[in-house]
Amino acid sequence: MSDQVILAIESSCDETAVAILKNGKQLLSNVVYSQIDTHKEFGGVIPEVASRIHVEKITLVIAQALKEANLTMQDITAIAVTQGPGLIGALHVGLQAAKTLAWYYELPLIGVHHIAGHIYANELVEPLSYPLLALVVSGGHTELVLLEEENQYQVIAQTGDDAIGEAYDKVARVLEAGYPGGPIIDKMAKSGKPHYQLAKVKPHTEDQFSFSGLKSSVIQAIAREQKQGLEIIKEDMAFAFQERALEQILNKTKDVIEQIAPKHVVIAGGVAANSRLRELIHELLANYPEIKLTIPPMKYCTDNAAMIAMAASINLKHGKISTLDIGAKSVLDLANF
Ligand code: KG4
Ligand code: ZN
Repeated sequence: MSDQVILAIESSCDETAVAILKNGKQLLSNVVYSQIDTHKEFGGVIPEVASRIHVEKITLVIAQALKEANLTMQDITAIAVTQGPGLIGALHVGLQAAKTLAWYYELPLIGVHHIAGHIYANELVEPLSYPLLALVVSGGHTELVLLEEENQYQVIAQTGDDAIGEAYDKVARVLEAGYPGGPIIDKMAKSGKPHYQLAKVKPHTEDQFSFSGLKSSVIQAIAREQKQGLEIIKEDMAFAFQERALEQILNKTKDVIEQIAPKHVVIAGGVAANSRLRELIHELLANYPEIKLTIPPMKYCTDNAAMIAMAASINLKHGKISTLDIGAKSVLDLANF
């Protein structure tokens, strides 16, 4: 049988990324151009700026990925691309590049759901078992996704307001700690102590997470301290926020594990890079030795195209091929994709 070689493009937010995956197993290259240094100046991702940088970098990143894999376009057998969800202008750039390559080289085009990519990043680490529970925590998403079988997604809990990564970024901004907030709060909290009390979060319904109230609690706690003329101990505030945010994630994950008894639990998305979350999920799963746990390495947690290539190889296996008229989707239903 001839080789399957997928070239995948990811441009849904502020990373311009291209990867090449052979036979659904062998990652030949994984190039990520991060725009973080540009967006840092603005304290967050400016969608218009992100799109412009994708336009400038996309061709170079494709060329670099081919070079690192020691391949030419003639060796590629399929083109994969993130179709959504994400920033619409940013997605357009990747889609247009992918469609042009697919059309010119007469290759199948595979549209990929960004969250399916984050989940299947774990398949780059080890084979997945089903039923599988994925805890997806990123800048745009906070979801518990159940896969009864490969390629079948059921969202069983999601945020009713902000995503957890968004809350990390906002709290870092309030603390004037820098951008992106996740890794900064992660580091600060390590030297923080239990000092500030933040109210426990109560989501509206059983199947929801909530983070906007927690962010407001941080703002109120800072105002209270300042009113008393006290200086804020930023590390302690970062600690208090992180403990409350992760407590909610861990409690819900535990409840769902008890309900559905999955064979495998994986974590996915940018916030999966968080050291305290990694520690807590290890502790939680230690109570369930029969359940396999996969925590992807950092490079597969934040946005990358290797995960898109892996999810595309799963789509291909299930006959999911796109037509050349697919468009970018800022919102995209994972269960019906
Ligand atoms: O998955 P990702 O790269 O992009 C989206 O699809 O959203 O996630 C980015 C998010 C940002 O909010 C960033 O602050 C957060 O992941 N993040 C972290 C850490 N590293 C990145 N949050 C907490 N702790 C970290 N170590
Ligand atoms: Zn992402």
